[in-house]
Amino acid sequence: MHSDCERILLSEAELAAGVKAAGAWLTEKFRGAFPVAVCNLKGSAVFFADLLRAADIDVQADFMAVSSYGAGTVSAGKPKVTRDLFSSVAGRDVILVEDIVDTGRTLVTLRAFFRERGARSVTVVALLDKPSRRVVEAKADYTCFAVEDRFLVGYGLDYAERYRNLPYIAVLKERVYAADGQGAGAR
Ligand code: IMP
Ligand code: MG
Repeated sequence: MHSDCERILLSEAELAAGVKAAGAWLTEKFRGAFPVAVCNLKGSAVFFADLLRAADIDVQADFMAVSSYGAGTVSAGKPKVTRDLFSSVAGRDVILVEDIVDTGRTLVTLRAFFRERGARSVTVVALLDKPSRRVVEAKADYTCFAVEDRFLVGYGLDYAERYRNLPYIAVLKERVYAADGQGAGAR
């Protein structure tokens, strides 16, 4: 385990089992269809790559980015789309792949975004959910793991752009983010 981590919350094997089940769910739901799976960068990239390979369907991949928080503990308010999709989603079944549903603001913003773009349907698959942190009502259609309110890193999740490449999900030691005075809200 990385020395900046307190403990492993989800091991590689636990993550693989969760991703496999999510892939099977997508396989069932989208059999015979050709949905477009959207990776919300950067946190979802690792999950996205594994999830698509666990789904036995024809699927298009697309990518976008949304700004959530600045460098501080306070939310920057309404998330903004900072990198747009490569392709149109008008008339398409969209699978939005999210790393974590936290306050819920990103999810609410993106559901509205795809509706505005004329998507036929929007299905949200989230790796993690922190229900205790919710500020607005938001729910993924499929969640792999509900987790406690601790700041997590690994498997795509970062703190200050580090730790995304850890193969497990771990609780970050408080001293790591206390040291720079940002707090764990710098997400
Ligand atoms: P929201 O608050 O639901 O809009 O989530 C915004 C984003 O915050 C997520 O997509 C993550 O990138 C990030 N985030 C939330 N909780 C954590 C965490 O524990 N570790 C790393 N990033 C997080
Ligand atoms: Mg992040």
